[in-house]
Amino acid sequence: MYSGKAISLQALDSGLVELVLDLQGSSVNKLDQLTLNELGEALQQLTEAGASVQGLLIRSAKPAFVVGADITEFTTLFKRPEAELLHWMSGVHEHFSRLENLPFPTVAAVNGFALGGGLELALAADCRVLAEDAKVGLPEVTLGICPGFGGTVRLSRLADLSAALEWMTSGKPQAAAKALKLGVADQVVPATELQDAALALLRALVNDPAASRANRQRKQQALANTPALQAQLEGLSASYTKTLDARYPAAGAIVALVSQHATQSFGTALEMEAQTFAQLAKTTASQSLIGLFLSDQSLKRKAKGWIAKADKVQQGAVLGAGIMGGGVAYQSALSGVPIIMKDIRDEALALGSKTASKALDKLIEKGRLDEAGKQQVLARIHPELEYQDFERVDLVVEAVVENPKIKAAVLSEVEGLMRPDAILTTNTSTISIDLLAKSLKRPELFCGMHFFNPVPLMPLVEVIRGSQSSEKTLATTLAYAVAMGKTPIVVKDCPGFLVNRVLFPYFNGFNRLLKDGVDFERIDRVMEAFGWPMGPAYLADVVGIDTMVHADQVLQVGFPDRMGHEGEPIMEALLAAGALGQKNGKGFYEYGVDAQGKRTKTPSAAAHALIAERVQAKPEVSDEDIIDRLMIPMCLESVRCLEEGIVDSAEEVDMGLILGLGFPRFRGGALRYIDHLGLAVFAQKAVTHSAHGGLYQLTPGFNARLQNGQTYF
Ligand SMILES: NC(=O)c1ccc[n+]([C@@H]2O[C@H](COP(=O)([O-])OP(=O)(O)OC[C@H]3O[C@@H](n4cnc5c(N)ncnc54)[C@H](O)[C@@H]3O)[C@@H](O)[C@H]2O)c1
Repeated sequence: MYSGKAISLQALDSGLVELVLDLQGSSVNKLDQLTLNELGEALQQLTEAGASVQGLLIRSAKPAFVVGADITEFTTLFKRPEAELLHWMSGVHEHFSRLENLPFPTVAAVNGFALGGGLELALAADCRVLAEDAKVGLPEVTLGICPGFGGTVRLSRLADLSAALEWMTSGKPQAAAKALKLGVADQVVPATELQDAALALLRALVNDPAASRANRQRKQQALANTPALQAQLEGLSASYTKTLDARYPAAGAIVALVSQHATQSFGTALEMEAQTFAQLAKTTASQSLIGLFLSDQSLKRKAKGWIAKADKVQQGAVLGAGIMGGGVAYQSALSGVPIIMKDIRDEALALGSKTASKALDKLIEKGRLDEAGKQQVLARIHPELEYQDFERVDLVVEAVVENPKIKAAVLSEVEGLMRPDAILTTNTSTISIDLLAKSLKRPELFCGMHFFNPVPLMPLVEVIRGSQSSEKTLATTLAYAVAMGKTPIVVKDCPGFLVNRVLFPYFNGFNRLLKDGVDFERIDRVMEAFGWPMGPAYLADVVGIDTMVHADQVLQVGFPDRMGHEGEPIMEALLAAGALGQKNGKGFYEYGVDAQGKRTKTPSAAAHALIAERVQAKPEVSDEDIIDRLMIPMCLESVRCLEEGIVDSAEEVDMGLILGLGFPRFRGGALRYIDHLGLAVFAQKAVTHSAHGGLYQLTPGFNARLQNGQTYF
């Protein structure tokens, strides 16, 4: 029978055949073009086999059924004209419909994950038997698209309409038991019994053709257009309208699509699905989200390469139990790596331990941990005031106050207590790694390990390569970050490293806007609408005006030509007036609590007055100008970081900004933002604002790319 590189047909007894999914050279099955072509060929053979085949079992020879479509193929596929995309989709629909209409019963045996196209394939079978630990779902929405292999039609007719919409708009993988309850699965059995149970069900269907017919009809039949259905659809649409975010159009498109095709014939519904899919595939949101998915995968592959060269950190230590040190201790312990937490103040240690304990209580509340688990995690944190047992430590994270002299003294002190092969890292945000390395005897075993605040929530760690840091030092630090569940990026030592170096030019643009009399509340509104989680004024308050001023000064010294200011920056004036931001309740906004104990945030009249005194001219500034004057410096600094090799690739620049700054995901990162605008349009914008200084000057590398018609991705 048929034997391909991804699919084979094997004859069983009594006229039964199994279609085995086993993509060669891959650890998982995915519906790439090869698999789809082979599916077509195998189905052709099954159709031609006529009466000799009595039933078909579809199963995977891998630990998971099918993880989905091959997303690496999407980037080129989606660039094709819409008509070609529609043609491609109708080809896939044809395969799936042919499977669904085979002249004998079909059963899918689903093990592990059946996601996206994987679940859609299983939905084309008459029945599905799921292993107890199987997870099924349609996660396309997370890539900015809708299911496109018939999933929106089959799932919404098989399961309850609102549940189907919930699955498709959340994109979350669902447990087998839930699938059974909704009728998406026909049986759920222990994984070891999956094949036998699926075969038994297939044999039963062979003897009961009416049952298979009924199952097919259930998926293919339009819902009756009753007032009750219309009321349900209106209710669903109204409830989704409240939560939908227009910047991520896929969820809304799925709700509209399913509402519209519910009462349509199966064929029309499939065509409507293809139309929606093709439209969503052309949005910048889907291009960004797919790009980010692929970048994430590529970062993971890169990390694997590093980890292969790393030593495993079995015992960590953190110096400083403050905001960052406490977070590092918690995260290490939670990830199973014991850690010494050393501070010079008892209160700091007590606060560090209390914060960890509270965070663990939250996990208990969410049902993700029990009391015994909490105690195990806490037992992995060893608070101490004096250095003890440092000869057992594999890696130290220094997270004491941001003062070069104190850091140099602490680093040199702890180096003397560590094993000669142990690694020393610093969480400094602003001090040069090479400068700190000067205080060390073994600078090759030293690098930066820059976490972001709050440590448990922020996924990025910048691993800063000093000029003397060894590959092994970087590899082991990176492996420790991965063990903590973080996404590390290797960054060359420079002022601000990657993330802050790119962030402060944005704030430099903010300062210029303030001095041009643009209201900070308006700037916040415009930038939040642009997609940032918070506008620059609010962000400065959250970070702390003192921290902002300190980091900005470091960047001014580092890059005086373009990051210097004319006159006193507004934030320095605010700081001089005693505004620290959220931490003392005074910043661009004032923070307090109302009578109900709820936190309040109101624009500060004092900040408005202080800024008004410093406004020199009041040029006309449109909302688009606000965006451009903040985004151009950020984008061009990203370009410079890439050109200077601060990180290796455009992917790392953009992932750094997404994970470290909360750059709007639907825009894909600074370099993708340039690509989406088009390099020529971006260049035009930069030229328009070039009078604002060096941060708005295009680089030679950018100009060369523009001339050669190249993009960043
Ligand atoms: N807070 C942030 O948002 C953030 C983000 C990234 C990086 N960082 C960096 O992390 C480091 C720590 O920042 P933080 O916000 O946690 O500061 P913090 O003031 O909250 O904590 C610093 C802690 O270090 C302790 N300490 C001082 N000298 C010490 C010594 N000799 N040995 C041991 N402990 C000592 C202090 O008692 C204090 O508990 C700084 O380098 C900072 O730049 C901070």
